[in-house]
Amino acid sequence: MIFYFTATGNSQYAAEKIAEATGDRAVSIGAALRSGSYEYDITGDGYLGFAAPTFAGTLPGAVGLFFDKLKLTGYGGQFVYGVFTCGASDGFESAALYTVLKDRGIGFDGSYELVMPDNFIVWSDIPPKERLGAMLARADRRLDEIIAAIKSKTPGKIDARAPRQLYMPLTVAGALHADGKCTVCGLCAAICPMGCIGRDDGGRPVWDGSCTMCLACLHRCPAAAVQHGRDTQNKARYVNPNVKLAASLIAASP
Ligand SMILES: Cc1cc2nc3c(=O)[nH]c(=O)nc-3n(C[C@H](O)[C@H](O)[C@H](O)COP(=O)(O)O)c2cc1C
Ligand code: SF4
Ligand code: SF4
Repeated sequence: MIFYFTATGNSQYAAEKIAEATGDRAVSIGAALRSGSYEYDITGDGYLGFAAPTFAGTLPGAVGLFFDKLKLTGYGGQFVYGVFTCGASDGFESAALYTVLKDRGIGFDGSYELVMPDNFIVWSDIPPKERLGAMLARADRRLDEIIAAIKSKTPGKIDARAPRQLYMPLTVAGALHADGKCTVCGLCAAICPMGCIGRDDGGRPVWDGSCTMCLACLHRCPAAAVQHGRDTQNKARYVNPNVKLAASLIAASP
């Protein structure tokens, strides 16, 4: 089994490709959080994987919430790995995952860094199409190497230092809002893994509650109406072109 957290599809893409190669099931942590599904049996599986984006050099807060509730049965002898997708480089995720798993009596065979397009457009810009294509092609070549390492059970990076922090803290989604382009379609509320987007009487989204800052709402809004303060106006959005939004994420709007 491979668990993945994703906002813009990079980690989903990696997890689904790995699952296909290892004959495993890819499970969306976002969908699990939304549906309250925390019990998984991995008896007979050869591998136990975790794929997630790098958030400020560590694991997303949403992954922490999931680990707090996860009830895993059937662990014994699986090759256990992490794959961290990032815009530039991974950070303390290997150490964080090592620690989280150790606390649960689960071994760790290491992690692999996968550089993919950077979705944190609060600070950066999505590159033009040709550069994006080249980045995705490079990521595909790296992913092939990662898959070969996992299948041959070749250990990845094992960082046993005390991690700087296990998870990026959850924040109140203060800067996120919808501008005048919002068509009131409801998609952002339906896909937020934290369920922290409600709707006002007119159906417009209202951000309320703990946000993991994944930026799924911002990148996936069909009208590009979701903004982070004034930092993202007129900037291109990004969704990995090779993944479909998991049906389980398009749940009924809250
Ligand atoms: C809140 C936030 C923090 C991020 N921090 C980092 C970082 O510290 N280093 C980095 O290389 N990329 C960082 N990124 C970029 C993502 O890790 C990268 O684009 C990732 O592949 C997105 O995965 P996803 O498409 O599965 O959501 C950050 C993105 C977000 C939204
Ligand atoms: S996804 Fe965009 S258009 Fe749809 S409700 Fe949310 S902000 Fe409005
Ligand atoms: S409000 Fe947006 S950024 Fe925050 S957790 Fe939900 S989808 Fe992610």
